[in-house]
Amino acid sequence: MTLNVPVRELVENVSTPFERARAMPRGVYTSPDFLKAELEQVFVRDWVCVGRAGGLKQSGDYIAFELAGQPILVLRDGEGALRAMSNVCRHRMSTLLEGQGNRRAITCPYHGWTYNLDGSLRAAPAMTRNAAFCKEDYRLPSVRCEEWLGWIMVTLNPDAPPVAQGLAEVEALIEDFDMGSYVETFRETHRWDTNWKVLAENFMESYHLPVCHAGTIGGMSRLEDMICPPGQRMFNYHTILKDDSLKIALAHPDNTRLKGDRRRTTFLLSVYPSLLITLTPGYFWYLSLHPHGVGQVDIVYGGGMSPDFVGSPEAQQHFAAVKTLLDKVNVEDRGCTEAVYRGQLSALATPGHLSHLERPNFDFAQYLADRTGGFERRFG
Ligand code: FES
Ligand SMILES: [Fe+2]
Repeated sequence: MTLNVPVRELVENVSTPFERARAMPRGVYTSPDFLKAELEQVFVRDWVCVGRAGGLKQSGDYIAFELAGQPILVLRDGEGALRAMSNVCRHRMSTLLEGQGNRRAITCPYHGWTYNLDGSLRAAPAMTRNAAFCKEDYRLPSVRCEEWLGWIMVTLNPDAPPVAQGLAEVEALIEDFDMGSYVETFRETHRWDTNWKVLAENFMESYHLPVCHAGTIGGMSRLEDMICPPGQRMFNYHTILKDDSLKIALAHPDNTRLKGDRRRTTFLLSVYPSLLITLTPGYFWYLSLHPHGVGQVDIVYGGGMSPDFVGSPEAQQHFAAVKTLLDKVNVEDRGCTEAVYRGQLSALATPGHLSHLERPNFDFAQYLADRTGGFERRFG
């Protein structure tokens, strides 16, 4: 395999012990060649998260999005199953649906060909005089879609191992949280002016909390309370122990699954390539990222509560306060991550050494080097 320059630079960058490691070279963030490699080797090959399955409850609920340049549709079909398929009309190839919503059938906005929720063609106006046209031959191509702990995961790769197999270690790590039962209460989409990996890496380290978030949560964040173990094959994580100041971040009194310090532990899980989950005993929030060119990132931002909190009006008030705070924290992250991308565009910019609190960033860099450049990773 001939590797392009930024991929070669990345492989060289991660071929060093973590104790001597530097941040990724700037071409990894700014080069269209690297973007091409990561779309082909990462976003086409691995599983990408679309949101929570609970967000598509009714038959006909759908989400449209783009995966590595392919318009995709995920919907709840008439039988109650989740399905993903191409969001491109089989007539003259218009895209079909946008954003999210509910449809009893999928009607193309161009000439009105109409598809059933299983992707088969239901009707096409004025097609009876084309002797070769046969309605039964038409169906929207399906895309692999699996539900894993409540997450909707899709992949364009027919050979990718099932999600639960690739993420078995994540499942084991947080089994007592029962993440599958958490209920989504908000879901938004955003676009920021930074490379997607800058935002992913920002999530992976809490080193920036005291400074970048001085206006919000910075004062509550103690670097000594952050634990950053080495990453695994398909994810990395770090944890923070929360004090009693935010009740909804602690286990509900009725929750007997979580024991000891686990009752006040927040997990920050980064599931490769781009699902970033903050999981607390009482609530969760997440980002699912997709590159939009080198300099922009498309973000799904959602969250909600564990089932023991979701029914209580008092907890809902607490969560509304958490959401207001999270929005402010995100504004700070936006400022910091957009400033990083502007810096990376500078010809004078060079990457510096990593703190021990940036261990997950190094593991993520090795994963990217593995996917794009065949770098062989080693695990404990
Ligand atoms: S492109 Fe869809 S109906 Fe013509
Ligand atoms: Fe942050």
